Amino acid sequence: MASSTQIKALMQSYIDKDDDRFLSVALQVAAHEARSGHGKLAKELKLLVEKARLSSSSNVPVSIAKGIKDSSGLLTTSYPKLRFSDLIVSSSVKDRLERLVKEQKHLTTLKNHGLSPRRKLLLAGKPGTGKTFTASVLAGELDFPLFEVRLDAVITKYLGESSAKLRQIFDTIREVRGIYFFDEFDALGSHRGSSNDVGEARRILNSFLQMIEQDDSNSVIVCATNHIEVLDRALFRRFDDVISYQLPSEDEITQLFKNRLHSYVAKNFSWKKLSVISDGLSNAEITMAANDAIKEMLIYGHNSITISMLQQAIEDRKSICQHFQE
Ligand SMILES: Nc1ncnc2c1ncn2[C@@H]1O[C@H](COP(=O)(O)OP(=O)(O)OP(=O)(O)O)[C@@H](O)[C@H]1O
Ligand SMILES: [Mg+2]
Repeated sequence: MASSTQIKALMQSYIDKDDDRFLSVALQVAAHEARSGHGKLAKELKLLVEKARLSSSSNVPVSIAKGIKDSSGLLTTSYPKLRFSDLIVSSSVKDRLERLVKEQKHLTTLKNHGLSPRRKLLLAGKPGTGKTFTASVLAGELDFPLFEVRLDAVITKYLGESSAKLRQIFDTIREVRGIYFFDEFDALGSHRGSSNDVGEARRILNSFLQMIEQDDSNSVIVCATNHIEVLDRALFRRFDDVISYQLPSEDEITQLFKNRLHSYVAKNFSWKKLSVISDGLSNAEITMAANDAIKEMLIYGHNSITISMLQQAIEDRKSICQHFQE
């Protein structure tokens, strides 16, 4: 039998989420059992430890990630719970995202056959179409931590420093499996701090792309941009998939409103009418209009949301857009 000290050490390492310590105490227990003549039990314990080590190296080390302290300030960590049902996109976009999730879930099987799952994505499209939201949905579906890279902290005046910071991020990508989100990553190509050296900016973007290309970790890298047209086409081949986000179709607009408002409207509510008047708004603006209507209902004590409340909220959103387009 394991000694009371060993049992306490096992409990303590479990509480501390210290997997390494937990397994090394388990090995001590196995050695103790072997010495006491319980060879079969010792062997079984050792096998279990090996199995645990293997699965923690190829699977999601979420427990490790949860304990991570990012002292460098380069990453923001969160644990989103969003799912595919929250994301309203065309079926072709959804199919491609689901494919990545499936391949990630079968990582070990694919690797055993010499194949690597999809893991490098470029999302491109207009503001408010759900690129950042998608990174959260992928994290929620895979139950991975989401690490948002703070590019403002990466980009410094000094070229060497920026590259070293990028290197640091890619080291973490290798060590801790998760979703790593580089929002507006094209900003790397515009080296703001530097006086006028366009060449330097270009080199930072290039070294970033090279790091992406060389990365063979188990993490998922998601980059997003609003300006795909300014990107060099040659960089597309660094990604396993390049997905274009569009403004929502009529059906998608209806779905967005329904997702948000179904419990606040009367049964015979005309969703169709809403989708027609919201044409041209982004998913984010539609979500905001829906939220505005909910707030109005709550603040003025209405029983439900009417079409005219929504019409007003949609008009308000549209006038904000027009104001900034002029
Ligand atoms: N496709 C979508 N499905 C459901 N909700 C969405 C979608 N797109 C946007 N939203 C809602 O709008 C909010 C803002 O969207 P998000 O930040 O993902 O847009 P974005 O494409 O990243 O925009 P930007 O290019 O400005 O960064 C989301 O948090 C979500 O509530
Ligand atoms: Mg975004």
